[in-house]
Amino acid sequence: MTLASPVLSLSNIHKAFGGVVAIENFSLDLHPGEIVALVGDNGAGKSTLVKIVSGVHKPTTGDIRLDGAPVSFSDASSARSMGIEVVYQDLALADQQPVYMNMFLGRELTKPPFGLLDKTRMRRECQELVDELDVRIPSASSTIRDLSGGQRQGIAIARATHWASKLILLDEPTAALGVAETAKVEELVASLKEKDL
Ligand SMILES: Nc1ncnc2c1ncn2[C@@H]1O[C@H](COP(=O)(O)OP(=O)(O)O)[C@@H](O)[C@H]1O
Ligand SMILES: [Mg+2]
Repeated sequence: MTLASPVLSLSNIHKAFGGVVAIENFSLDLHPGEIVALVGDNGAGKSTLVKIVSGVHKPTTGDIRLDGAPVSFSDASSARSMGIEVVYQDLALADQQPVYMNMFLGRELTKPPFGLLDKTRMRRECQELVDELDVRIPSASSTIRDLSGGQRQGIAIARATHWASKLILLDEPTAALGVAETAKVEELVASLKEKDL
C-alpha cells in the first residue's frame, strides 16, 4: 500500500528569538485526514510552531513543504491563501457581530452590481455549515457575545473548516472551556476527519 504524500512536511525547523531557542530541530510529516496532537510543557514551543506553519513567524532555519512544494510565508494571510487556517484559544471573533458575519470576517460575500453585502447568502451558507458540523447555536443570526464559550469555539472551528483547504491548526482550543464543552470540541475535531473536511 502506498501512503498518500504528506500535505505538510516540516524538516529540521529551528527557531530562536534572540538568545532564546524556542524550537530545535523539529521535523514532522502530516498526511491528509490525520489528526495530530502536539504535547509539551509551557514554553516548549508549541505556539511558536503553530505560528511558523501559519506564517506569523519565519523559522530561523528549516524547510516547510505543502503537498511536496517548498513554501515560505511572508505573513499569515499568505498562509491563509494557501489553505491553512488557525483556531486560537483566545478567539478571534467579533463579539458584537452575528455568527454569519464572523464566518465571513474579512472575506464577506457581496452581490452585484454595487458590491453590497450578501447577508442572505452568508446567513444561509453559515447555517448549512453549523448544521453540518452539529454546532448547536440558536441561529446564524445570533450575536457572538450571547453564545457560550463552547459554542464560540464551535463557530471558530466551523469558520476554519469553511476556509481551510489543506490544514487546520488549533492552539489549545479547549483551554478556556469546561469539561462538557471540551468534549464537544473534541467531538467536532473528530467529525472533521470523518466528514473528510
Ligand atoms: N515573540 C517572542 N519573542 C521572544 N520569545 C518568544 C516569543 N514567542 C515565544 N517565545 C519564547 O519561545 C519559547 C516557546 O514559547 P511558546 O511557543 O509560546 O511555547 P508553548 O506554546 O509550548 O507554551 C518560550 O521560551 C517563549 O518565551
Ligand atoms: Mg502556547
